[in-house]
Amino acid sequence: MMTPFRTSLKYVTKESLILHRSLSSSSSASLSSLTKQKPKTNNDANFQPLLDTFGRRHDYLRISLTERCNLRCLYCMPEEGVQLSPKSNLLNNEEIYRMANLFVHRFGTKKIRFTGGEPLIRNDIIDIIQNVSKLKSNGLEKISITTNGILFARYSSMLRQAGLDSVNISLDTLNSDRFQLITRRNGLAKVIKSIEAALRDDYDSVKINFVPIQGLNDDEIEDFIQLTKDSNLEIRFIEYMPFDGNRWHPDKMISFKQLINRIQSRFNVERLPLRTIHDTAVLYQVQGYVGTIGFINSMTNAFCAGCNRVRLTADGHLKVCLFGKDELSLKQAIHNGLNDDEIDVLIREAVKRKKKQHSGALNIAKDNTNRPMILIDQRKFLSTLSSSSNDKNFTHIDPNDGQVKMVNVGEKSSTRRIARARARIEIGSDVMNKIEYNQIGKGNVLTVAKIAGIMAAKSTSNLIPLCHQCPLDRVDVQFHLDYSNEEIIVESICETTWKTGVEMEALMAVSIASLTIYDMCKALNKSIVIRDCCLMAKTGGKSGDFNRV
Ligand code: 5AD
Ligand code: SF4
Repeated sequence: MMTPFRTSLKYVTKESLILHRSLSSSSSASLSSLTKQKPKTNNDANFQPLLDTFGRRHDYLRISLTERCNLRCLYCMPEEGVQLSPKSNLLNNEEIYRMANLFVHRFGTKKIRFTGGEPLIRNDIIDIIQNVSKLKSNGLEKISITTNGILFARYSSMLRQAGLDSVNISLDTLNSDRFQLITRRNGLAKVIKSIEAALRDDYDSVKINFVPIQGLNDDEIEDFIQLTKDSNLEIRFIEYMPFDGNRWHPDKMISFKQLINRIQSRFNVERLPLRTIHDTAVLYQVQGYVGTIGFINSMTNAFCAGCNRVRLTADGHLKVCLFGKDELSLKQAIHNGLNDDEIDVLIREAVKRKKKQHSGALNIAKDNTNRPMILIDQRKFLSTLSSSSNDKNFTHIDPNDGQVKMVNVGEKSSTRRIARARARIEIGSDVMNKIEYNQIGKGNVLTVAKIAGIMAAKSTSNLIPLCHQCPLDRVDVQFHLDYSNEEIIVESICETTWKTGVEMEALMAVSIASLTIYDMCKALNKSIVIRDCCLMAKTGGKSGDFNRV
């Protein structure tokens, strides 16, 4: 058990004491000493803003420099890390510059943020920043970086000189034991040194990313706010989001509303006006404090309306929405020798496909705990079916010789028949997360499993010796990710207007869909169990209806 954390900063840890002293002294450093270049406007002949069909102008580019990271934060990565692309798939310095140049000249990109993984583990990071900062004479206004702060102190002044304007440093605790617990590595002292270095080197802004998690670090919220008393820091409270293998649960997330109520009861805070309509942070300041507090409410308030950002993944894919699955490989486009005009067209087309908004992160997560429509429909379906009758005459056994036989259905009349089946796959929430966010190396698991299930239903008579070939009117397979039981529920429905029932088809569909999921995920979890494969309901035919209660 973690010992309760004391709320007064000066009692925290040796490291945070150093930080406190340093932050207080650096707050007196004047930012006006910075020699800022006024950005020039874009006068490129090819310049045309990057607009989507909703009139949103995209002038903010986030470039991930690597998928690798030297920490393993609980809320971000599984202990074993994530499956990495081979190094040769990553954008190199030259390609990064080419893309940044294209975005600035042609689309009027004003801000570029470098992210990761951990961007500073690239050994060409200074060169990358230096190169990209040349674009400041063509309209690029700001270069920022998001780092975990382990290496930043080492590079801070070089990065500043190279043209880096602002820095976001991730830090979720001021307690070194807890830092070890959250990041699964040591290094709090290094991160604190990095914050000190960033303040010393007069970056335009120094922000601390803090993800409050119930029962993990929520007792440090006030300590972090205290850091803004004397220092020009922005503490950004980021709502905990469900990601690949991060064991997210709604009870662990602290929403903006909960946070602000708590903060307002302890501090005299005032809301600050939005800096731009694209601002993703809601800003507050404790009266009389130097720094500010920002809230990134990705879970409870989608900021799609003002979205001005596009992302380049480390392996060179353009993503127009963080929550969208659409990707365009610019690395491939470069590899195929496309010129800037052609790449320009591809990017504009991708942005035109951007949706008005994503379904809302909370809804995406909620879907895991609520039953999906198909299952709600099913309950209705089940209750409308009358209870089963028991026919003890086994029609597959020849009464004369006791041998199996295929029943002659030539004389039977065709009636409408429906069957539903279900199976459960105990697979673990880590793998479920990966499936949900389409991060399984073998491909989109649920799509492949659905197709497999449908094809299996159609092939039933080829595999089950005594089954008749039956013309199927409909086969559907649906999946429900049940995070509370760490299992996937697979449901199928088959329908026919024919002489025989479709129970076997429905059972085949869930079986093969389940086995497909097993096959695609077995490398991640060897102890997957497929269980409770059963008929849920059937209607139509002489044997009567059946309804599993
Ligand atoms: N929820 C919220 N923020 C996250 N980050 C990473 N994973 C999550 C998550 N699950 C943010 C952290 C970190 C930055 C790199 O990404 O703020 O600082
Ligand atoms: Fe993820 Fe950042 Fe933590 Fe690395 S430091 S594991 S990228 S949150």
